[in-house]
Amino acid sequence: MPNHLFYGDNLTVLRNKIPSESVDLVYLDPPYNSNADYNQLFKTPKSQSGPAQMEAFTDTWTWDDATSGLAVEEVKRSQYQDAAKMLDAMVGFLGKNALTAYLAMPPIHASAAERLGYPTQKPVALLERIISASSNPGDVVLDPLCGCGTTVHAAQKLGRQWIGIDITHLAIGLIEKRLNDAFEGLHYTVHGTPMDADAARDLFDRDDRSKKQFETWACLRVGFIPQEKKGADGRLDGVEWFGPKKEYKAIVSVKGGRSVGVDMLRSLDAVINQQAAQVGVFLTLEPPTSKMVDWARQAGMFEAPGFAAVPRIQIVTVAQAIQHRAHAVNLPAGHNDTFKRAARETDPKLQGALDL
Ligand SMILES: C[S@@+](CC[C@H](N)C(=O)[O-])C[C@H]1O[C@@H](n2cnc3c(N)ncnc32)[C@H](O)[C@@H]1O
Repeated sequence: MPNHLFYGDNLTVLRNKIPSESVDLVYLDPPYNSNADYNQLFKTPKSQSGPAQMEAFTDTWTWDDATSGLAVEEVKRSQYQDAAKMLDAMVGFLGKNALTAYLAMPPIHASAAERLGYPTQKPVALLERIISASSNPGDVVLDPLCGCGTTVHAAQKLGRQWIGIDITHLAIGLIEKRLNDAFEGLHYTVHGTPMDADAARDLFDRDDRSKKQFETWACLRVGFIPQEKKGADGRLDGVEWFGPKKEYKAIVSVKGGRSVGVDMLRSLDAVINQQAAQVGVFLTLEPPTSKMVDWARQAGMFEAPGFAAVPRIQIVTVAQAIQHRAHAVNLPAGHNDTFKRAARETDPKLQGALDL
């Protein structure tokens, strides 16, 4: 099953979606219990200030029987009896704690950071060496904690098939962007992220945590930077800079609720002024009312010198965002490069240099 990206908990995805003996090489780089929250850094235009990062994932290992215990049991039932004996002895000797919870997931570590801003991103050259040394062209490479997608990037470059899994929409959104930037016309399948308005509704309705994931996903879908701190009124969900020198600002307010109305556009208008932004986007699961459409039409236009005028307040439905991505929002001078761009891969035989 070649070239698949899964949003979700890797244990669930591995159990339910990945057939036995379908993978040739596993690379994984787990969180290592630093007890820290890791933030995604976004590229902010020099002329702009303000928050340009958000929490990517929390790195904490704790023993719990439902996950760590099960993982040990699975190793015991596997053909890898040496590993099972070692793991069993360590849990017996060290007890059920953060360290043994971590050991229950076999660690392969690498370090260094570059490029896309993902907090624990690994150099692609390192993954190229690991994949070249440990697999053959056409093999299937799996990364069940794939972060911003270094493994899948290297696997694609080296002509391997790949499967990536991550538990945050931020990671999956970044990987999609990274692959599309680096490999022209690449085909792959994304699972677990909303592909229609009903699935987006399902994500929004599940619980408070998934509401947050919905907002992050929706912002990324239209190319905006999700905002960790929304301000006291909670009306600002994402930011985007645009214009020839990224001198203009657009903001987005994401709404998943079933009831929407003109008052929400008035609030957005107030935030546009408060943020000194030029454009505001109302990104909504529920279709707008005709009164809202009229109100937005009367809210005026923004015209950047040399470019066609665009509506100051733009209503975009989630269905439109799913279909058109960043093009669902109309900004002069096109979309900026909010996320650091992965360089286009041209020659798969050219292996990257490792900056040691
Ligand atoms: C250390 S980072 C991996 C970085 C990656 N090697 C790269 O180059 O970007 C660990 C990743 O594991 C993800 N993660 C943590 N728990 C997970 C789980 N249960 N299932 C899937 N992904 C998980 C986090 O969201 C994070 O992106």
